[in-house]
Amino acid sequence: MRTLVDRVVEAGLPGHVAIIMDGNGRWAAARDLPRSAGHRAGAEAVERLVRFVGRRLGLRYLTLFAFSTENWTRPPAEVEDLMALLQHFIDEKVGEFIDGGIRLRVIGDVEGLPAELAATVRDAVRRTEAGEKLNLTVALNYGGRQDIVRACGEIAKSLAAGDLDPSAIDEAAIAERLHTARIPDPDLIIRTSGETRLSNFFLWQAAYAELHFTKTYWPGFTPAEFVRILDAFQKRERRYGGLGMEGVV
Ligand code: IPE
Ligand code: IPE
Ligand code: MG
Repeated sequence: MRTLVDRVVEAGLPGHVAIIMDGNGRWAAARDLPRSAGHRAGAEAVERLVRFVGRRLGLRYLTLFAFSTENWTRPPAEVEDLMALLQHFIDEKVGEFIDGGIRLRVIGDVEGLPAELAATVRDAVRRTEAGEKLNLTVALNYGGRQDIVRACGEIAKSLAAGDLDPSAIDEAAIAERLHTARIPDPDLIIRTSGETRLSNFFLWQAAYAELHFTKTYWPGFTPAEFVRILDAFQKRERRYGGLGMEGVV
């Protein structure tokens, strides 16, 4: 019997899906657990989804928003806990990523992370470079506005050095200076936990992404729900400012 997974794969997967993984704290609070337990359960949800996407789905690009530039404003103990969890997660998973053909990229200010985590990230990115199955991008110490500001700074430097003519500044000139330079724009952005905002994620890249909001807290997010969201995505009509099918028939 053909399953929903088979049908979704046959119908043609989106090229790039990005997820704002939100709701770890509320998941824990609902169970009378500390927020740290929510983050640990959140890491398990990542593990589950990446394994499923890599082995069963054949999606090319998956991006996960793990830590924003604004998340530093949380209590130091929670920040430390998250940094330790990320460190442990990357260390533990890198072998599995290499075996599974998963190429890890990290977007955001890696140098602004604790030195040990920054080194772990650089090492994992280098060691998984040959992966050709799934491009897994983790947004870490990432802010959409900061990325645009950084790209503008680079453009300004090139202009001042005489390497770039003002007439050459177009969308591509900006896009190729963002952290996502070699990553296609997301087709679908999912946010868990019921919040309906972007929280400084992919401000430039989201121009024509379809947005999906689910009330599920991130630790409760399953591959089955992911497949249902993909199924719903495939039924949407993307118009890009044109008239779509209505206009031609
Ligand atoms: C998402 O869960 C994880 C991070 C932003 C690091 P939260 O920690 O934001 O959980 P809630 O939103 O407080 O429930
Ligand atoms: C967005 O979640 C950032 C990540 C998922 C990493 P937040 O929990 O930080 O967002 P706000 O504060 O609710 O906007
Ligand atoms: Mg949150």
